Amino acid sequence: MRNTRSLQDEFVARTPRSAAFEKRGLASLPITSSRGISFHAPYPVTMDRGTGPVLTDIDGNDYIDLGANFFSMIHGYAYPPIVEAVTRQAAKGSVWSANNAPQVELAEQIVGRVASIDKVLFNNSGTEAFNLALNICRGATGRYKFLMAAGGYHGSMYDTSLGSKGLPGPSHYVAPYGDTETFVAAIREHGSELAGVFVEAIMGSGGFAQAPPSFFEAVQAACREAGAVFVLDEVISFRLSEGGHQRTLGLDPDLTMLGKIVGGGFPIGAVGGKSALMDLTNPAEGSVLASGTFSGNPLSMLAGGISVAHLTQARIDQLGLWAERIQAGIHAEAAKIGLPIWTRRAGSLVGWYFYDPGEGCVFGATRPDLAMVRRHHLAMLLNGLFPTPRAALATSTVMSDAIVDDIVARFGRSLEDLMADRPEKAAA
Ligand SMILES: Cc1ncc(COP(=O)(O)O)c(C=O)c1O
Repeated sequence: MRNTRSLQDEFVARTPRSAAFEKRGLASLPITSSRGISFHAPYPVTMDRGTGPVLTDIDGNDYIDLGANFFSMIHGYAYPPIVEAVTRQAAKGSVWSANNAPQVELAEQIVGRVASIDKVLFNNSGTEAFNLALNICRGATGRYKFLMAAGGYHGSMYDTSLGSKGLPGPSHYVAPYGDTETFVAAIREHGSELAGVFVEAIMGSGGFAQAPPSFFEAVQAACREAGAVFVLDEVISFRLSEGGHQRTLGLDPDLTMLGKIVGGGFPIGAVGGKSALMDLTNPAEGSVLASGTFSGNPLSMLAGGISVAHLTQARIDQLGLWAERIQAGIHAEAAKIGLPIWTRRAGSLVGWYFYDPGEGCVFGATRPDLAMVRRHHLAMLLNGLFPTPRAALATSTVMSDAIVDDIVARFGRSLEDLMADRPEKAAA
């Protein structure tokens, strides 16, 4: 337990090269790492490498990785089958404006796994997948607007960013996730304007809130009634079942958005769905442009093909068991020191809260325990754990029982350090 130095002082002492890189980076980048979401005070570490479940920063500090690059590195870092395949492919060329075999193979895998997907198209991020899905919705309906859950996140386009703050925008409405009556009423009220309705199967940025299947069934039915396209965002939740979380929920969405693990650690987004909708992107048949200089590049396709093929249902089940063990461990460790803590788990995903979040969506930037989450993040880094800065983690296939037990022990020590560092305690 640390009593003499604050968490921040200790972090600064252990990461001088990261500090120097942050300073250097800010002279030429508005934020370092191009990703505001990765920022935490006083500065994010600069990583040097990742191997299996471990990340190493440029000061030589090791961390067991829990953030998995926001839940995308499901087989850890430098996964040997992917390294071998992309190295071979890179020597043959990384992209061209023509088809490639790995693209067809990844498409076949996704179509084979997800019952609602007849055809699929690839691009380079979940944000691009949203863009394409919305264009298909618009092309199919001749309507412009969309509806999303307040606190939902479908990428960093202007409107979806507003929606993640719970705000309506120029081309979208918002309705509360999981509140069937209000959500369905919004679809009915705006139905004639709606090209599509976008919902995450499990709220990612919204703190792993999980609506019951009846909510999704009602949304799906209301979309059909309104003639709006029902789009299920499985960018995060595809990791929860071989057939996507829609298999577990018993859903048949018109379109599905994919990303993250489908790229095996390389840039990826994908939209799949019913042939009648997907065929609108075929220049011979429809009016929706699907393009992108690097879309479907063989590196992402190859890595993604391996990532998906190696994610068998048995492995998904194991990821869930490890996450369950971590969740139980978090509660046991917190109980030892009398710290109230709440958790949510969806398969391999676990979030934790220093207040009772209830059932609903958690707005990351305004959660009432934000100050504590930030201090705890530093405490976790100092104990060799690398979660997302938003108090969330995911298990990966390269973990083991021993690593999971080590994670729990380190988590326990991070909670002790958090308590020792609590300003309210220091002031008492
Ligand atoms: C549910 C969901 N949809 C879409 C996206 C956007 O994906 P990307 O960051 O690849 O643009 C994310 C990213 O975190 C997400 O969580």
